[in-house]
Amino acid sequence: MCGIIGYVGPQDAGKVVISGLKRLEYRGYDSAGIALQNVQQPELLVVRTAGKVTELEIELDARQPLFSTGTAIGHTRWATHGEPTRENAHPHSSSSGNIVVAHNGIIDNYLVIKQLLQGQGIEFTSETDTEVIAHLIEHYYEGELSEAVGRALQQLEGTYGLMVMSALHPNMLVTARNGSPIVVGICDGETVIASDVSAVVSHTKQVIYLDDGDLLTTTSDGVSITSLRNLPVARDAIEIDWDIEAIEKGGFEHFMRKEIHEQPTALQNTLRGRLDFSSSSTKLSGMQMGPTKLADIDRIMVAACGTSLYAGMVGKHLFEDFTGIPTDILHAAEFRDHNPIVQRGTCMLAISQSGETADTLGAVRECLRKGAQVLGICNVVGSTIAREAGKGVYLHAGPEIGVASTKAFTSQVAVLAMMAILLGRSRRLSADSGQRMIDELSRLPELAQAVLDQEDEIAGIAAKYARAEHAFFLGRGYMYPAALEGALKLKELSYIHAEGYHAAELKHGPIALLTEQVPVIVIAPDSSGKSRTLANIQECKARKAPVIAIVTEGERDINGLVDDVISIPHCEEFIAAIPAVIAEQLFAYHIARERGCEIDQPRNLAKAVTVE
Ligand code: AGP
Repeated sequence: MCGIIGYVGPQDAGKVVISGLKRLEYRGYDSAGIALQNVQQPELLVVRTAGKVTELEIELDARQPLFSTGTAIGHTRWATHGEPTRENAHPHSSSSGNIVVAHNGIIDNYLVIKQLLQGQGIEFTSETDTEVIAHLIEHYYEGELSEAVGRALQQLEGTYGLMVMSALHPNMLVTARNGSPIVVGICDGETVIASDVSAVVSHTKQVIYLDDGDLLTTTSDGVSITSLRNLPVARDAIEIDWDIEAIEKGGFEHFMRKEIHEQPTALQNTLRGRLDFSSSSTKLSGMQMGPTKLADIDRIMVAACGTSLYAGMVGKHLFEDFTGIPTDILHAAEFRDHNPIVQRGTCMLAISQSGETADTLGAVRECLRKGAQVLGICNVVGSTIAREAGKGVYLHAGPEIGVASTKAFTSQVAVLAMMAILLGRSRRLSADSGQRMIDELSRLPELAQAVLDQEDEIAGIAAKYARAEHAFFLGRGYMYPAALEGALKLKELSYIHAEGYHAAELKHGPIALLTEQVPVIVIAPDSSGKSRTLANIQECKARKAPVIAIVTEGERDINGLVDDVISIPHCEEFIAAIPAVIAEQLFAYHIARERGCEIDQPRNLAKAVTVE
């Protein structure tokens, strides 16, 4: 997915857009571009580069003295069609050069339209789907820009969050949304439009989220929203509940390390007001489900991707242990590929930090179509999945800028635990058990802090294994998803090939890969399967593989058995994945740092994958 931003107002639009692109760069960063409007004469300056926004800034500075302007659009790209080159960077121009488009999404029928336009003599200069949009708008242009955009978009199939600017329409931007997020910052005398609030919040906290099918026309007089057929549309503004500092590094070297250390606070915010000690249960009003509706749920399905999927796997154990409700975990894409069975009593949980992941959004729409109860578990307020699900539970973990997800995972598990308590208390979970569980949840911030306090020791252990090229992470029960998450963190941050495996599974083949050069991280805190996992460690040591054990502090059965030990504080098994994964986050972070990797924006990745 990509980041797009547009500005209309009295400030130097080039500076506003470049600054906004830097805040959006975590969404995609393989090429970038900007278009500025010359208000003295009908002319656009378009500057595009392969590489990051800083390279674009250098090139713009060299060319911008040509004119300063109050209107501009910018784009930072995560390549889908065409390599990350200057020619494929956005914004893309129409043949006359009078119309430019910056786009986030995928146009499914672009090839058909491209061939039609080529048949009319239009020459294309890029491999992208987006360029088709610029030519199509020009094809329909008869003097009124919004109308030309609306007519062109009615021919498109696929997803877009896009912005259009024309040399012939000073101080005007036309923006449209279908499947890719667009947020509009409403300020006095100026408008900032972007893919997400991180590029808007420094200007205003009053924002409007466009819905699919909306067309926004912005001029120096303000904004108007219509449908593609020019019918008026009303959208309410909402107030952003965090400040610009939340997306600054705050003295940390990387956003990721900041967000790892924010977890005690993030967990406090996730839990705040939701532990109901009077009823030994939890309060999750966003679910909009009273006791009868809760009792009607006879099956849970979880749809998610990546780290969110692994949080959902912890949720499976929570729901089946504490509510007795059968729970299925599906890769979100499977909801479209394999037509899962969804019944009246099915409750689908869509877990997504960004709330914009295309595969998860597709699963939400599929389940809504089949009449299931759908709950969104998202971090970004007002995100597409949250709005289309219509109900659910926000993480309140604060913005997560580092592409590798950290505090979202631990807050997701905390939310799932609270949901399990709520659902359990509408079934067989006793008040005493409920009380014990919410007491344990209230300890989460201190448990997280206890692990963070060991960062130096964990960094020292990480340094020993920073040169490995392969690694395994093992766990069972609640710790199996933790093993998968630890492997994902190491993979995406350090580019080491790491595999998460069920501890019992290693001996069924993968153990053939163990050598003295293949470290094995084993997660074995006090838990039901610990003794069997310790036996698995013996199997690894018999093949001379170095073993790093993540165990409960004071564990004596591990002494002399492994090469390194990371201790996590005593806690109940149902929440042990949280301190264990925080230890894995620090382990992966320090290995990546030792290897000199680009930590906040690892190669090939993007923060939210809004393409299928
Ligand atoms: C996690 O570190 C990855 N960046 C990725 O797996 C991510 O969790 C996945 O793309 C899902 O994102 P979401 O939670 O925003 O839907």
